[in-house]
Amino acid sequence: MFVTIEGVEGAGKSTQIQMLLQRLVRLGVPALVSKEPGGTPLGQELRSLLLAPHLSGEKWCPESELLLFYADRAQHIASVIRPALESGRLILVDRFDDSTRAYQGAQGISEATMDKLGEVVLGRLRPHLTLILDMDPALSLERVRARNAAAGNAFKETRFDNETLDFHTRVRKRFLAIAQRDPQRVTLVPADRTPEEVHEAIWAHLSPLLRSSGHPVE
Ligand SMILES: Nc1ncnc2c1ncn2[C@@H]1O[C@H](COP(=O)(O)OP(=O)(O)OP(=O)(O)O)[C@@H](O)[C@H]1O
Ligand SMILES: [Mg+2]
Repeated sequence: MFVTIEGVEGAGKSTQIQMLLQRLVRLGVPALVSKEPGGTPLGQELRSLLLAPHLSGEKWCPESELLLFYADRAQHIASVIRPALESGRLILVDRFDDSTRAYQGAQGISEATMDKLGEVVLGRLRPHLTLILDMDPALSLERVRARNAAAGNAFKETRFDNETLDFHTRVRKRFLAIAQRDPQRVTLVPADRTPEEVHEAIWAHLSPLLRSSGHPVE
């Protein structure tokens, strides 16, 4: 099973993926966790190119950035996602195609362009379940600031952390539109609650899918 977790910066994706993984491991469900960009060694190199503040001051034009995200995704699908699915494991991915749709869409790339690249890179691959952690980015960015301050240099700020609140609000709206457009696959999870409450809401969506594919859920 292929599950993706999406949402604005600081909504709690990484926190929830870890909580979910622990629960799945306790239940004996064969699961693994990955992320985009950077779910492969080459992808990690792309991740630093994409997310690190650039020393030269030069910015990616939106099209170059888009192609690098899709290059990372193609590599990730070929060497991590497909093998995991073929070996019958559950793979949880921290950001996937909906993040590209939301962020690069907010930067002005058209849906038609992303449809074309998606056709090349994803083919017919779609997550079985996508959980969008939804909250006001004004609050989620506060979490990011607190996290980065507490971690010293362990967490580097990304270029996207420095985008304006207006940009992140547009990203959130795009995530909401994705959830409306594809309700079969996508579930919105209110994320401005305690980690435990968010986890239980996620579990309520995931556990019926696990049960129907023959996994123990309690
Ligand atoms: N429900 C919550 N309530 C309060 N704080 C939270 C909650 N979930 C996560 N946090 C804290 O907020 C910060 C951001 O969480 P996390 O790193 O999981 O978000 P993220 O969505 O993965 O962010 P990014 O988009 O930057 O990867 C962390 O310090 C985390 O401990
Ligand atoms: Mg994260």
